[in-house]
Amino acid sequence: MAEYDYDVLVIGAGPGGYVAAIRAAQLGLKTACVESRATLGGTCLNVGCIPSKALLHASEYFDAAANGAMAKMGIKVKPELDLDTMQGQRVDAVKGLTGGIEFLFKKNKVTWLKGHATFEDAHTVKVGDDSHSAENIVIATGSSVTPLPGVEIDQKVVVDSTGALELDKVPGKMVVIGGGVIGLELGSVWRRLGAEVTVVEYLDQILPGFDGDVRKESAKIFKKQGMILKTATKVTGVEVKKGKATVAIEPAKGGEAETLEADVVLVSIGRKPNTDGLGLDKIGLETNQRGQIETDHQFRTKVDGVWAIGDVIPGPMLAHKAEDEGIAVAENIAGQTGIVNHDVIPSVVYTWPEIAGVGLTEEAAKERGEVKVGKFPMLANSRAKTNHEPDGFVKVIADAKTDRVLGVWCIASVAGTMIAQAAQAMEFGATSEDIAYTCHAHPTHSEAIKEAAMAVTGKPIHI
Ligand code: FAD
Ligand code: NAI
Repeated sequence: MAEYDYDVLVIGAGPGGYVAAIRAAQLGLKTACVESRATLGGTCLNVGCIPSKALLHASEYFDAAANGAMAKMGIKVKPELDLDTMQGQRVDAVKGLTGGIEFLFKKNKVTWLKGHATFEDAHTVKVGDDSHSAENIVIATGSSVTPLPGVEIDQKVVVDSTGALELDKVPGKMVVIGGGVIGLELGSVWRRLGAEVTVVEYLDQILPGFDGDVRKESAKIFKKQGMILKTATKVTGVEVKKGKATVAIEPAKGGEAETLEADVVLVSIGRKPNTDGLGLDKIGLETNQRGQIETDHQFRTKVDGVWAIGDVIPGPMLAHKAEDEGIAVAENIAGQTGIVNHDVIPSVVYTWPEIAGVGLTEEAAKERGEVKVGKFPMLANSRAKTNHEPDGFVKVIADAKTDRVLGVWCIASVAGTMIAQAAQAMEFGATSEDIAYTCHAHPTHSEAIKEAAMAVTGKPIHI
């Protein structure tokens, strides 16, 4: 049998890769993880989930003070923005958490190989001048920003999500290209801090992939907050002159062109898998039409001994999906049974209110058969009403015959937390009746999930 340097070598230390490496080491496998960034944690910890949430959280407080929400509760304050401190706590959050992964690598005896990995063959990668061999290699190289053809990102006037996290002053006018998750989250941050934000979205509605009612309702809420939404609109060019941008737009289906002036333009039209410079040709591995690496349910690629997980494979580009795949791939390599249920992956937009969903949208569920839908407005939830958080609703979609829950969607201040119970219920194959007859603590926002489940059979109490 061939002798290898490692049992497992993971390429990429994002939430997919670092979790795979730690689990493999926990299972007694000699493990290394290659990461080219100066710090561990990938997109998520360095320039994604964590820094964006640090700014969302802080700007939410600022907004509550500035927009009168605090005054409504008898707290009169005139907030003054100290952007340096706000940005400083973002940097601290990233530093603390990325350092934490380095600590976990040491604790679990995972070797961090610093540099960019390129395949030499299916069991060997080159990092710098050194070659490292492993019986199993896991590709967890993640994703990066999709560029908009003809629009150059200078990270000053035209920025991607990384540049939008690092602005050193609040732009007067910001144009966001793409009304998806990044555009709405980072657009919300800068709107709350004082920017006039215009979101240009190619499709008829924002938030593709989300339930139709949720897309409609969230657009209303964002507009009420002062965000300008230009849907069914395409950007035809961006010109930068003397530190200002002129964005040329026109209706997606043709019509009169117009221009928007902006101090900052955020390009957030999606992300693409990272496979450049990986040397996939050396091992005979091809990507699909979307640039992704295809795997089977165990995360094996077509090449023996090579596995792949996270943003670089098909499925939603989400940190928790990558993490779960990281655990599963390590368990499969160790000879155990690692499974990820891709039908039950929650999705959360961390705006105010939060927007969350798991399972099928009503539209997708109807394509598969007859459904029953229960809806409950947050306005009728005692806790949300008391907290002055009237916006949003919960929607439970169940199979009309079996009552099995197929999808749950929420718009609520704490929707991201509420959706966990829906995901767990669906993982256990719950019916709407199971949720409706589960005792929920009062007064909590989660009671709205119970009431929406009761509404599936037409019997909510509070509406
Ligand atoms: P990544 O996190 O992208 O990590 C891959 C790592 O591999 C990188 O560090 C890269 O440097 C390294 N690498 C690549 N190629 C090589 C190579 N050849 N050699 C060595 N190293 C290599 N998801 C959520 O679930 N919740 C959120 O709130 C959320 N917010 C986000 C906010 C923003 C602004 C962005 C951009 C993304 C956000 N995401 C969020 C998505 C989330 O960050 C990704 O889904 C997640 O990071 C994917 O994990 P991954 O391990 O597959 O890849
Ligand atoms: P996205 O796919 O969510 O949204 C991109 C939007 O841009 C879509 O609405 C699309 O129709 C639109 N678009 C595409 N081309 C366009 C064009 N030329 N002009 C105008 N609009 C155009 O992608 P986004 O927001 O860049 O996020 C990337 C990934 O990061 C997502 O897949 C998401 O899952 C992940 N992410 C997750 C977060 C979370 O879980 N809270 C937060 C941020 C990112």
